[in-house]
Amino acid sequence: MKIYMAPMEGIGGYVYRNAFQKYFGPIDAYISPFVGKGSLMNRERRDIDPENNKGICLIPQIMGGDAEGFLKVAADVASLGYKECNINLGCPSGTVTGRGRGSGMLKDPAALDYFLKTVMRECPMKVSVKTRVGFEDADKWEDILKVFSKYDFESVTIHPRTAKQQYEGELHMDCFKKAYESLKCPLIFNGEIKTLEDAEKLAGSFPDLYGLMIGRGFVKRPQLACEIAGRKLPVPEEYVSWHRELESGYAGYLSGERSLLFKMKDMWNFYGDSFKSEEKTLKKMKKTQSLQEFNTLAEQLLRKQ
Ligand SMILES: Cc1cc2nc3c(=O)[nH]c(=O)nc-3n(C[C@H](O)[C@H](O)[C@H](O)COP(=O)(O)O)c2cc1C
Repeated sequence: MKIYMAPMEGIGGYVYRNAFQKYFGPIDAYISPFVGKGSLMNRERRDIDPENNKGICLIPQIMGGDAEGFLKVAADVASLGYKECNINLGCPSGTVTGRGRGSGMLKDPAALDYFLKTVMRECPMKVSVKTRVGFEDADKWEDILKVFSKYDFESVTIHPRTAKQQYEGELHMDCFKKAYESLKCPLIFNGEIKTLEDAEKLAGSFPDLYGLMIGRGFVKRPQLACEIAGRKLPVPEEYVSWHRELESGYAGYLSGERSLLFKMKDMWNFYGDSFKSEEKTLKKMKKTQSLQEFNTLAEQLLRKQ
């Protein structure tokens, strides 16, 4: 069973991926946070630059929208040497879906079909898809699956929620089962995998599943990747080195202590889950405006792993 890291805009950039691979990996592949709201911005180019992603398998994700815009970005991505890209059909953000992009594309299966037909004909790379099961509700899921079944995707990853559900609420496992039974291409499950037991349960229920894609579960407890692979967990000093490496990686392109502190705090908003009984220290870390104090507190916690 393949293990993928889910795209996480704001968290899962190249600095995070490299440090993750070194201390908790290897895992099979990483999907980049989406690029291409029109063209490849400098920040996006830096994130997927092969020079910044050595030794990991990266699949750049491009936002689904109009085929012409998609193909323009895809040509740019392909020129960097990538052989596969991933289409984002899941982003639930209003600014994205309002323009018929991301999960907004699931509203109209016929328009989705038209988009995919052009992309699959003209994209210079192999194509995989990451999707939700609907926009408002899952009523159109069977029609969406019929559209998917027409194309030869590298894989289809399903986060079995609607866009309306955002990142919370019941998973539509019935929809996932329908996809498992009907799609011929490799299928990847994504959503709420937080423990080794969660991963094992999915593998047991869907023995032909190609892979699992994990987002928040990895950011909250990166050692989950070692547990799934049956590898030795890092020792506390390695967590400290991991944390220092993250920070120096971010310092390489962020300017000023304040932006660095915010960047680290963003990660700790998730990673704090690893230290549920350390509420007092986590509160101090949230409050402090000093990077030095933040790091001292963080390293106290990391040494308790
Ligand atoms: C902060 C954040 C940023 C995300 N950015 C992306 C993104 O750029 N592209 C994408 O397809 N999904 C994105 N997602 C969705 C995740 O990839 C994943 O589908 C979702 O979190 C469910 O999986 P999980 O329960 O393992 O986290 C994001 C989710 C979060 C919480």
